[in-house]
Amino acid sequence: MIKIAPSILSADFSILKSEIEDVERGGADWIHIDVMDGHFVPNITIGPLIVQAVRPVTNLPLDVHLMIENPDRYIDDFADAGADLISVHAEACTHLHRTIQHIKSRGVKAGAVLNPHTPLSVLDYCLSDLDYVLLMTVNPGFGGQSFIPAMLDKIKSLSEKIKIEAPSVLIQIDGGVNEENAADCMNAGAEVLVAGSAIYGKKDRAKAISSIRNANG
Ligand code: DX5
Ligand code: ZN
Repeated sequence: MIKIAPSILSADFSILKSEIEDVERGGADWIHIDVMDGHFVPNITIGPLIVQAVRPVTNLPLDVHLMIENPDRYIDDFADAGADLISVHAEACTHLHRTIQHIKSRGVKAGAVLNPHTPLSVLDYCLSDLDYVLLMTVNPGFGGQSFIPAMLDKIKSLSEKIKIEAPSVLIQIDGGVNEENAADCMNAGAEVLVAGSAIYGKKDRAKAISSIRNANG
């Protein structure tokens, strides 16, 4: 079953509650929340306060993508704020295995994120500890960038690796996903598709969500 996770980075923040309700009514599976610190990535976005504020607005799982340096410092804050899933960049974690255990100790699902150029081998020896792997399909920092086509092969390789080593781990992808490339991504093995501008950039969010979900017929 494919899951669609609209990224609120492209939502209208002045009416965030109704923007979230709109995608929930429209069939979204997870709400993707992009946390950026101005250090790991150039942009600054959302902190635990916003996660806490949107928690009562939706029944959907809150999928918190930490694009921050030293994520260990903030895992408890995001767990307390109501995150259901937390993903950390492998590039930002000196002790990735420990960080994953920290997330799981809070009863939160744990994901590891890889930038486009980061090899899958960084997941060796911790793949089966994860609930999901997030492959960036753009360089993180901003919504509305173009999908990097070379990531299709990376999704395929990860999918093969997971089938052998850790079949319960989900593959999530993030960046430039739209109704044109969604079919290729799903065929390559992507199971959770994050989309910001391809959903929030459209007036009819339900239609946008179903066009992505049903892209391969
Ligand atoms: C990029 C973020 C993405 C972004 C996706 O750094 O992690 O979640 O919001 O936006 P689109 O779908 O517009 O590329
Ligand atoms: Zn994201």
